[in-house]
Amino acid sequence: SRMPSLAACYNLLDFEAVARQVMKKTAWAYYSSGADDEITLRENHAAFHKIWFRPRILVDVENIDMSTTMLGTKCSIPFYMTATALGKLGHPEGEVVLTKAAHQHDVVQMIPTLASCSFDEIVDAKQGDQVQWLQLYVNKDREITRKIVEHAEKRGCKGLFITVDAPQLGRREKDMRSKFSDPGSNVQSGGSDIDRSQGAARAISSFIDPALSWKDIPWFKSITKMPIVLKGVQCVEDVLRAVEAGCDGVVLSNHGGRQLETARSGIEVLAEVMPALRERGWEKRIEVYVDGGVRRATDIIKALCLGATGIGIGRPFLYAMSAYGLDGVDRAMQLLKDEMEMNMRLIGAARVEDLNPSLIDTRGLLGG
Ligand code: FNR
Repeated sequence: SRMPSLAACYNLLDFEAVARQVMKKTAWAYYSSGADDEITLRENHAAFHKIWFRPRILVDVENIDMSTTMLGTKCSIPFYMTATALGKLGHPEGEVVLTKAAHQHDVVQMIPTLASCSFDEIVDAKQGDQVQWLQLYVNKDREITRKIVEHAEKRGCKGLFITVDAPQLGRREKDMRSKFSDPGSNVQSGGSDIDRSQGAARAISSFIDPALSWKDIPWFKSITKMPIVLKGVQCVEDVLRAVEAGCDGVVLSNHGGRQLETARSGIEVLAEVMPALRERGWEKRIEVYVDGGVRRATDIIKALCLGATGIGIGRPFLYAMSAYGLDGVDRAMQLLKDEMEMNMRLIGAARVEDLNPSLIDTRGLLGG
């Protein structure tokens, strides 16, 4: 079938449809898969459709300002590129393509531990005062982890996102079936006993420490000055515990539906978490991020209305990169920005600070 032109992609889901057609089967399987029956994967996106807007009229929305602050740095827009492993499965240049697109749009990039490019290649591709964060999988050998963290801080990373939802990798059966073979990756697996029949994900993740616990948080605080964010928090109890542990942020996330099957969507957890933080007067003590299933600016705006500081987007940028390279990711980001500007106008909010819970109706999400 013929490749549709880039100009024919009008939204983020269009890139997914093209990527599905043109990507290598193994790569598509790795990027698109979720755990088990993919119920959480589907729910991540569907949950946004249970929230409806309550827009305000006759607000001056001539000038829309989408800028915000995340972990102390000014950003042009409240979404960021979340960490997704193995960029070279989709594009021969891998993650540096995403770095360049992020620079063009002043979007923060979270660098994955399991990137195909080396960490230094991705940092070297950074331009100007572009902001990057590090996503960390914690190694059983803490000296390896210490070196990774110290190096990231030295190279200018502005946030440490510790992934806490993957003590064992979920079963992504689509990925397992496609029998991983990856020519492009230079990922350090930490061993030669890789069982490739387990799929791409499991083949590269055996070093991750399942014994990681709350007791380790003070150690992380002792080895870095970077803000510490727990990525993969899924209930209010753990958010409160993260505040008490002195974490700077949490990402409410189920790892894009790739880990615990029938985990709740991040947006639903956000609706539980923010009122509990406000009740305690703790909403300024921790930044709350969310990811999973965000495909439209309306999804981003709903999360901001609930009180999120920033919104992570994963697969859409991988698909845009795989199908069209840098031009694809550039267009995906531009489409999202254009949608964002228009929808902030239509909802009657000129600035990110103007977005608040009274602008949405969450009864469908929380009551049904
Ligand atoms: C991920 N994600 C992820 N998370 C993480 O902490 N470390 C990782 O190495 C990866 N790798 C990864 C690979 C691929 C192909 C995907 C799709 C996802 C999870 C990611 O950071 C994020 O939580 C989800 O991708 C968000 O959902 P959407 O935007 O993909 O729906």
